[in-house]
Amino acid sequence: MTDAPPLAITGATGAIGRLTAEELARGGAALRLLARTPSRAPHLPSAVVVEASYGDRQQARRALDGVTTLLMISGGEEEGWLEGQLDFVAAAADAGVRHIVYTSSQGAAADAEFTYARIHFATEEAIRASGMAWTILRDSLYLDFLALLPRADGAILGPGGDGRIAGVAKVDVARSLAAVLRDPAAHAGRVYELTGPEALSLDEVAATLSAATGRDIRYVDETLEEARASREPYGVPEWRMQGWITTYTAIARGDFARVTGDVELLTGRAPIGLAELTGQPTSRG
Ligand SMILES: NC(=O)c1ccc[n+]([C@@H]2O[C@H](COP(=O)([O-])OP(=O)(O)OC[C@H]3O[C@@H](n4cnc5c(N)ncnc54)[C@H](OP(=O)(O)O)[C@@H]3O)[C@@H](O)[C@H]2O)c1
Repeated sequence: MTDAPPLAITGATGAIGRLTAEELARGGAALRLLARTPSRAPHLPSAVVVEASYGDRQQARRALDGVTTLLMISGGEEEGWLEGQLDFVAAAADAGVRHIVYTSSQGAAADAEFTYARIHFATEEAIRASGMAWTILRDSLYLDFLALLPRADGAILGPGGDGRIAGVAKVDVARSLAAVLRDPAAHAGRVYELTGPEALSLDEVAATLSAATGRDIRYVDETLEEARASREPYGVPEWRMQGWITTYTAIARGDFARVTGDVELLTGRAPIGLAELTGQPTSRG
């Protein structure tokens, strides 16, 4: 495996990993794409695809042999999510990775309201204790995710109150990650908080999506009981129900509300907002 490129990226079968890999490949970088289903990885020039799953430590250790810089895209809502990530961090340290870059969540903390932000924080802590150099990018909620919130009847349902969201576009996250990966040493030991240009309330999110789509989209503030009842039909396990509901209760607390200049700091370009992402005219044209 040591003849494969020393810059490795996970998650390239998903949105942010793929966008980041494409951005780096456009600049001519040779990449090692780590995928648990290699056939689903993008075909990029100078990219080698290697099979690796977070929870398979031996396989990950082999896949990471000879890697110097690693982008670890956080995994998804699966059983064993945190344990798999901790195994992967340990495998990276075992393999001699020098610098690890991780996509975390705005508001990551041991006692975060948003339960998934606790998983991100525990992963951050393992990374900081690993001995590898590190850079952490704490992403606000993705604008692309906000655009998917309306149900078929146009309602966005959740106990988010009048909290605001400084959501960031996935494309800006990818451009920020690419900037870090081009010169990781310049970003060692840094935590960046990636947000969009403004903090929108859920009413404003609904209004922006209505204008973009011509649909009647509206935000309906739920009580906690209503939030649980409206999600019961999905039949998800309790940890996932908690993740879904606390996304909104964290919004209500303002945990995603802080707007930062970190995307522009890293990329040299102001981040796009929800209107621009959804194709509406803006001052940038
Ligand atoms: N801030 C937000 O609003 C928000 C919203 C949703 C998610 N997130 C987080 O941000 C991450 C990146 O977003 P995204 O849009 O790029 O997500 P995505 O499209 O779902 O991609 C996630 C990537 O992670 C890989 N992955 C997941 N579990 C893995 C495992 N155990 N071992 C190896 N690879 C694994 C997936 O591989 P497969 O293709 O094999 O599944 C996929 O390539 C998400 O995974 C999640 O942690 C944030």
